[in-house]
Amino acid sequence: MRPLWSHITRQIRQVEVVPNEPEAGMLFLDNIGVNGHGSQNGSQLVIGGWVKGPAAADVSAERPYCLQTAVAPILILRHENRFFAYKNECAHMAMPLDGGLLDAESAILTCPWHGFRYDITSGECLTAPQAQLEPYPVRIQGGHVWVRPG
Ligand code: FES
Repeated sequence: MRPLWSHITRQIRQVEVVPNEPEAGMLFLDNIGVNGHGSQNGSQLVIGGWVKGPAAADVSAERPYCLQTAVAPILILRHENRFFAYKNECAHMAMPLDGGLLDAESAILTCPWHGFRYDITSGECLTAPQAQLEPYPVRIQGGHVWVRPG
């Protein structure tokens, strides 16, 4: 049986270069995650929109972890054996929160810039109750933290 594309390749006899067209480039399907087997974005594994993060054991309940992704830097936080992911951006002035103080007992993160405090289990801002951290889906699989930005 002939492959489906053999019909097409027999019909292409000439390629015309059109003036002012951008040069053809090559795009590897692995890089855009369309092959269903995941892709590497730099050193990150991405499968179905989920980005593989650190080993769960490497995320401390006393220190925020910042995962750089193509979409946004994501803050990964741990309280006991639960994990939470938020955009690494304070609701006050959008400064990064990964240098903040995380209290393992109370699950409260304090912004290092001006002291806004957050309940990491809900993302609720305790300093300005109308403010909220932007959450991302998070799960643990194969011993790693996975987040789905965007
Ligand atoms: S930027 Fe976080 S409290 Fe101001």
